[in-house]
Amino acid sequence: MSAAAPAPMPSSRPDGIVVAPMRPRHLQGVVALETATNPRPWSERLFRDELRMPTSRHYLVALRDHVVVGYCGLMYHPDEGHITTLSVDVAERRAAVATRLLLVQLRAAAERSLTAVTLEVRITNRPAQELYRRFGFAPGGIRRAYYRDNREDALIMWLHDLDQPAQLDRLDRIRAELPAPLVVAHEVRDPDDDGEPTTEGVLR
Ligand SMILES: CC(C)(COP(=O)(O)OP(=O)(O)OC[C@H]1O[C@@H](n2cnc3c(N)ncnc32)[C@H](O)[C@@H]1OP(=O)(O)O)[C@@H](O)C(=O)NCCC(=O)NCCS
Repeated sequence: MSAAAPAPMPSSRPDGIVVAPMRPRHLQGVVALETATNPRPWSERLFRDELRMPTSRHYLVALRDHVVVGYCGLMYHPDEGHITTLSVDVAERRAAVATRLLLVQLRAAAERSLTAVTLEVRITNRPAQELYRRFGFAPGGIRRAYYRDNREDALIMWLHDLDQPAQLDRLDRIRAELPAPLVVAHEVRDPDDDGEPTTEGVLR
């Protein structure tokens, strides 16, 4: 009988992806990516307006060499969050970029005491549904003809009990299994200042 193959070990070396708060300086890259991936892309103005509401919105980018390769937005309601957008550059897919963005978003949501997060996803978008399922999101209903470009239905997904140990353990497990450490850039200055944040750290 042959021995089972050992599980792959997560690398301890960063792979160049940094998750950072989205700032106006990122919008050119964000909109280029949005235009390439969304049939009804959000405009730069719409993203800019979202960034003007920092108490109810939280937007992140994933950067490689300061170039935007992904982004994710969350809208805060009193007890729950709503993922507004998530996208990753085609060239960077299947490398856990979306996973890193979601990890940071959901950690931030938990720190703000949100207990549930919801989102809509195209009914045919199996890759995204699979990603969300791994985080504990489950189907919660259908919005008929939600997408205006092709009148496709949306699957509503919910993640509950974000404040419970089981869910927080799941986030820790997903982080521990990342192919590279989760590097996060922290703001060390006034968010209205559009300069580069100056510190990066590994999120543990
Ligand atoms: C969905 C999307 C954000 C995923 O980004 P990504 O960085 O490639 O995702 P990750 O590498 O973090 O994937 C994590 C897991 O999700 C699942 N997944 C992601 N892409 C998948 C695919 N094409 N097929 C099947 N499962 C997939 C897998 O379980 C994957 O884990 P694995 O690679 O270890 O098998 C990306 O494909 C995308 O930008 N799509 C277009 C925009 C979109 O659909 N946004 C979601 C709107 S609700």
